[in-house]
Amino acid sequence: MTNQLLLLPGDGIGPEVMAEVERVLDVLVARHGLQVSVETALFGGASFDIDGVPISEATISKAKAADGVLMGAVGGPAWANVPRDLRPEMGLLRLRKAMDVYANLRPALCFPALADASGLKRALVEGLDIVFVRELTGGVYFGTPRGIETLPDGTRRGFDNQVYTTDEIVRVARVAFELARKRSNKVTSLEKSNVMESGLLWRQEVTALHASDYPDVELEHMYADNAAMQLVRAPRQFDVLLTDNLFGDVLSDLAAACTGSIGLLPSAALGDAGKPGLYEPIHGSAPDIAGRGLANPIAAILSLEMMLRWSLQETQLADLLAQAVTHALDSGARTADLGGSLPTTEMGKAIVAAL
Ligand code: IPM
Ligand code: MG
Repeated sequence: MTNQLLLLPGDGIGPEVMAEVERVLDVLVARHGLQVSVETALFGGASFDIDGVPISEATISKAKAADGVLMGAVGGPAWANVPRDLRPEMGLLRLRKAMDVYANLRPALCFPALADASGLKRALVEGLDIVFVRELTGGVYFGTPRGIETLPDGTRRGFDNQVYTTDEIVRVARVAFELARKRSNKVTSLEKSNVMESGLLWRQEVTALHASDYPDVELEHMYADNAAMQLVRAPRQFDVLLTDNLFGDVLSDLAAACTGSIGLLPSAALGDAGKPGLYEPIHGSAPDIAGRGLANPIAAILSLEMMLRWSLQETQLADLLAQAVTHALDSGARTADLGGSLPTTEMGKAIVAAL
């Protein structure tokens, strides 16, 4: 069966890292029996420049019809003054919402060869293997009302709205509990129920779901600020971390830094079973290094690995690709973010050679 893949390179370093994904895909097809047909579409600022919107309706339809969607990155200073609803980031939020990919799996894994690349001591990060399950289609990212209004005295007021419903919490919590059962069987749920009503609801709904459906899984609740501290103090205490859209955004960047570089970490945004997933490296478009061959393609290549695993059911190929990345790092391949000097293309070739 031929799987339909949609690639969305996007902006900044997106096209550079996506070129390495394609290099890997070519080898998986030519040498390892993968059957895919690949289509590429404009996304983010690149789409705005041509189509006037950060994602076109045609691309959204293609994404919903694909077996898997893989993106590079969106955004950059070139679009800083574009109206908010047309900004590159809005294309990504629209795509996540349209695909209804509400559960974002963000693993933070410390590769053995990189245990000294982290700003944290080796003793803290060696063997680190945790995964965030970030709620991705709700919360303050989408809540209304939101806006900036001018007050009678001429000053202004900006407001956003953090909203969660039972269903939104339960469906993402279910993903976290199911994932925990395949791992070390522990979920830590993060919110600020001491301050926020939506956080209190979050805690209550997670507690109720745990009691009714997942009593065999260890459940711990933690305030999100404490979790930030614990992630730097003793990150290995965690297994699966379940949290909302905004805390998940912030804390997954923090967890990435614990592993050595944000250029290493992939993610998988999943919806209901049978629906296509959206795979995103968690790094951004990195305009400061874009176009210079400095980007680390590993986060994007491992996003392909997650797609093979979660959307295409190609577990063996996913394992093979993960091993190839580990092998390339073991043999000393390092891009600039890891203190090395390999260009993006050479890192891609090192992984292909290991494959
Ligand atoms: C991420 C990014 C996005 C987010 C931006 C680019 C909209 O930071 O995927 O973590 O905030 O979700
Ligand atoms: Mg982010």
